[in-house]
Amino acid sequence: MKGVILAGGMGTRLYPLTRMMNKHLLPVGKYPMICYGLDRLRKAGITDILLVISRQSAGMYTEFLGSGAEFGVSLTYKIQEAAGGIAEALELAKDFILPGERFVVLLGDNLFTEDLTPYVSSYLRQPEGTAKVLLKPVEDARRYGVPVFDSADSAWIARIEEKPKQPKTSYCVTGIYMYDKAVFDIIRQISPSRRGELEITDVNNLYAADRKLSYDVLKGWWSDAGTFESLREAGEKLKDALP
Ligand code: DAU
Repeated sequence: MKGVILAGGMGTRLYPLTRMMNKHLLPVGKYPMICYGLDRLRKAGITDILLVISRQSAGMYTEFLGSGAEFGVSLTYKIQEAAGGIAEALELAKDFILPGERFVVLLGDNLFTEDLTPYVSSYLRQPEGTAKVLLKPVEDARRYGVPVFDSADSAWIARIEEKPKQPKTSYCVTGIYMYDKAVFDIIRQISPSRRGELEITDVNNLYAADRKLSYDVLKGWWSDAGTFESLREAGEKLKDALP
């Protein structure tokens, strides 16, 4: 199993802080945000990790993380030249993932405390060519991708609505995804959205249409630290999470 952390994008919701430094390097507790995803992957036994970073602050990533050895992981870096969407960033992992390999994708601003091991094990039991996403109940689902189910006991997601005005469930699709190499064929089938980005929800919806998108509900604390308020809360919650 390999890992991919997507840390491109502009971080516009955190302007003007992100004018100076890429979002995923901002401090959360004692460490830059990016370290928490690395820690979650390492704890799940995933140490071969690709970081997709933006051009902005690229040197700071390598200066802080180096080869990853100090953090118990082995890092490969790819630059996403412009913020063309989460699926565009993911496509940059195409050569990093070999045929037959499976991998976990984390959005770099998704912070959480739970061990991923059981979710990864359950994904490894799924048939080849399928995917898994982790869900979390949230207060305001309108800010996220929201899953829709055919029936309450279905193991598969019927579709995902991205930032719906009237969410059909109170779950959000977190930025924790599991795929195999088939995802790169799926990315090739999607087109830029109205905001000009290759959307991860369009990718996941192609899986869902074929009943190939399973889910689990993440039990522990989870946050998308993309706003000032959630960044502050994450700093408080995770202040002693890493040594
Ligand atoms: O946090 C979970 C949500 O993340 C999901 O519920 C949504 O379905 C999903 O679309 C995404 O929504 P956001 O609006 O929060 O995505 P955002 O544009 O903030 O990007 C999240 C992360 O993805 C960011 O920390 C870095 C990475 N990213 C994003 C873009 C647009 C890239 O690496 N490259 C990009 O071009």
